[in-house]
Amino acid sequence: MKLSLSTVLVAAACVHSAAAVNIAFYTSGNCANAYFVCVNQSRDSCCDPFIDDVRYNSMEFQQLGTSQNVQLRSYDRGGCSRRTATSASNGRRTVCFVREPPYTGGGYGGFNLKRNAVEGGGADAECIRPQELGFPDGTKFNLTSLSDVDYAKIAKLSLEIPSDVPEQFQQLKITS
Ligand SMILES: *[C@@H]1O[C@H](CO)[C@@H](O)[C@H](O)[C@H]1NC(C)=O
Ligand SMILES: *[C@@H]1O[C@H](CO)[C@@H](O)[C@H](O)[C@H]1NC(C)=O
Repeated sequence: MKLSLSTVLVAAACVHSAAAVNIAFYTSGNCANAYFVCVNQSRDSCCDPFIDDVRYNSMEFQQLGTSQNVQLRSYDRGGCSRRTATSASNGRRTVCFVREPPYTGGGYGGFNLKRNAVEGGGADAECIRPQELGFPDGTKFNLTSLSDVDYAKIAKLSLEIPSDVPEQFQQLKITS
């Protein structure tokens, strides 16, 4: 069968309308409670929750395209140093990883990723820090303007509700 030009164009459009995938890290073991999230993470890059002495026990891929199949990847040993698991998204919108903690990095993309600068590059190499802190009630804090020191200050707290975020950082709350 010959592919018509319009078929090819539709296929290309689908690739580019890929959903804005988020990668969230939780200290809880079941993708519940507060999370640090990389928003609209690009393919074949590393989201690194960044704080080495906090143990992230679960990790969630969110807003995956339901008409897509991408490879979801988890890592340990700092950033995306060592790949510990993969899963095919296979049309699922949300996928929670729980079996390979602690999680120190996450990424996704095609199924034939060659080891690259992102993977195996050592702790925090080529990695992106989560831009937001989220809570189950929908409250979010914008962390992009924080220094690494202030980010670490928040990440090391035990956070259950938005008011657990210290007063000096309450102004980071995203109001929409
Ligand atoms: C996500 O990022 C891509 C570029 O990497 C951009 O084109 C797109 O508009 C972004 N989507 C959202 C919802 O922010
Ligand atoms: C987060 O803060 C940065 C810098 O202050 C700003 O550019 C960005 O638009 C904010 N993002 C959201 C989702 O509010």
